[in-house]
Amino acid sequence: MERINLWSEWGIVITVVLISIPVIIAAFIVFYRTRAIIQAFLQKKEVENFQRYLQMMSPEEKAQLEEKERASAYRLNNQELGSDRKAKDSRGLINQVQEVTDLRFIEKKKKSQPRPNIDPAHSKLILWYIGCAIFWLVFGTSVGEYLGIKFVAPDIDHLSWLSFGRLRPVHTNAVFWGWASLAMIGLAYYVIPRVSNAAIPSVRAAYASLILINTSVVAGTLSLMAGINNSGGEYREYTWPVMLLFGLGVFISLRNFYKNIAIRSTKEIYVSNWYIISAMMFVLVIAVVAYWPSWQNGLGETIIQGYYMHQGVGMWFMLFNLGLMYYFLPQQLNKPIYSYSLGIVAFWSQILFYTLIGTHHFIFSAIPWWLQTIAIIGSVGMIIPVVAGTTNFLMTFKGSWHKLASSYTLPFYLVGIVFYFTGSLQGTAEAFRFTNLIWHFTDFTVAHSHLTMYGIICFMLWGFIYTLVPRLTGKEPPQLLVGSHFWLAFIGLLFYTIPLMLGSTLRGMMWMEGKAFIESVELMAPFWLWRAIGGSLMWFSHLIFAYNFYLMVRKTKGQSIPNSPSEILKAKQALETQGIEIAG
Ligand code: HEM
Ligand code: HEM
Repeated sequence: MERINLWSEWGIVITVVLISIPVIIAAFIVFYRTRAIIQAFLQKKEVENFQRYLQMMSPEEKAQLEEKERASAYRLNNQELGSDRKAKDSRGLINQVQEVTDLRFIEKKKKSQPRPNIDPAHSKLILWYIGCAIFWLVFGTSVGEYLGIKFVAPDIDHLSWLSFGRLRPVHTNAVFWGWASLAMIGLAYYVIPRVSNAAIPSVRAAYASLILINTSVVAGTLSLMAGINNSGGEYREYTWPVMLLFGLGVFISLRNFYKNIAIRSTKEIYVSNWYIISAMMFVLVIAVVAYWPSWQNGLGETIIQGYYMHQGVGMWFMLFNLGLMYYFLPQQLNKPIYSYSLGIVAFWSQILFYTLIGTHHFIFSAIPWWLQTIAIIGSVGMIIPVVAGTTNFLMTFKGSWHKLASSYTLPFYLVGIVFYFTGSLQGTAEAFRFTNLIWHFTDFTVAHSHLTMYGIICFMLWGFIYTLVPRLTGKEPPQLLVGSHFWLAFIGLLFYTIPLMLGSTLRGMMWMEGKAFIESVELMAPFWLWRAIGGSLMWFSHLIFAYNFYLMVRKTKGQSIPNSPSEILKAKQALETQGIEIAG
């Protein structure tokens, strides 16, 4: 058969261009951060030289310098030409000047309303959610790491409980329902009361939800390892009673959030809440549809599986994270979101297109051709919300790029946004018929899954967690450890995905040329080794992340922040007995 010219295929060209974007962005981040470090070092040297120079000065020179400083500090009092009597201003020309809001040279910070202080019980709840989520991240990716090693050393064990077929869904479900879902709901327990300016209705209900979701993942993991599963498609391997616990957990939190928004003291419902509430409503609908008994066989089941898989990632993880981003990004940059309306356009277009694209998982299957075509068109339509969302976030960044050099959280946000653009549009290219023909049964989809679930969802969640937890506990992790987490995860992800994409393209072409299957397995061996290396870096970064979380929440001996008036009084008295004066 004639060899295919890949460069004449749009889907391939688009993918190559998209994948080079994060690599270029990484180079930029490295450049800016290195420049900032060098500049800080040079400034420090300059200050040191100046200090040495000051020390070597004679007393006369010092006196001269002080005189000069006094002279340059002199300011006119602006009353020299008039008197201190008030000007007559009967028409209000001076005292009632209105601000011209549309001619703004400096961004105006959105006026914040007085907000309730976050009470310790609420803060503890959020930390419990995040702590449990991190446990599932470490557990789930330890299983993922082991699975990656199995591709390189398939005979590593012969235990049925640890077989690939059982552990793979343990990995995917633990990171989906344990890690990402709990982290998102935990963060929402901060965002929703904040933007509604009202306290969370029931902290007890929030704990009940946490317990139910955790129980569901524990029960699901054990039953999958024991070989008990739903015998259905991907991410739907938990049996229905196990998934019911998860659904109940989400339902309880949804009710709590709904009530919270209903008692809000703000006029509008901030766009974050639109996204979060919808995501929670969608996931319940998706779960009920996917587990409904009447279509668990035949072609109908396949169509439902496509619907479930893509609504799961798109209408649960993606929609929820976008909602969190609309809150945390403006907070972190200390300015309003670039365009509220663009956020609403992205919201409705995401709902319109994302719900149509499930069948793109089964291109060339027995599903009607027209349904596949609709899914491909919907995948192209996804360009609208993705471009709208990315533009909104990047334009919010505009004018604040310099903050990237010094902030340890913003690089996580930026990488999440960049992967939102590249990972999603790479999905669009993957839905085209030709590219799908090459890539469908290969590891290309696995690379896409990690570019999106890891590159978008995990990076965004890490950025939000590093933003929020220090606010709750008052403790920041060391910059070096956060940097190590970032770079190991980022470089690891590139090592994981890029070789897999390359190898899978070669593999797909081999199949189209009719070569033997085993030859394609041999071809993939070095690419799987790269995946194991990248996966190990990612896994190691999660251990650092867990340690950073511990540093942010651990109790420091002998140090407690007095909160109530009586605690403050006691602390004051204790200091005074030690002879320490307190101002005020
Ligand atoms: C414009 C948006 C997107 C489009 C058009 C798209 C397209 C696709 C396509 C065509 C496939 C199937 C590949 C195949 O089996 O041949 C796929 C799989 C997948 N996508 Fe996306 N994708 C998009 C965004 C996302 C996002 C945002 C996420 C995660 C947050 C995601 C996660 C996944 C996952 C996990 C799979 C693997 C499903 C499986 O196990 O078969 N995708 N995507
Ligand atoms: C140390 C980090 C990780 C490693 C080493 C890893 C490894 C793996 C491996 C070996 C597979 C099986 C691939 C196959 O069947 O060929 C897999 C599948 C998957 N993993 Fe991970 N993973 C990691 C982190 C994550 C995280 C954090 C998420 C989500 C938040 C995730 C989501 C998925 C998904 C959705 C699949 C199914 C892919 C598909 O069917 O297309 N992984 N992972």
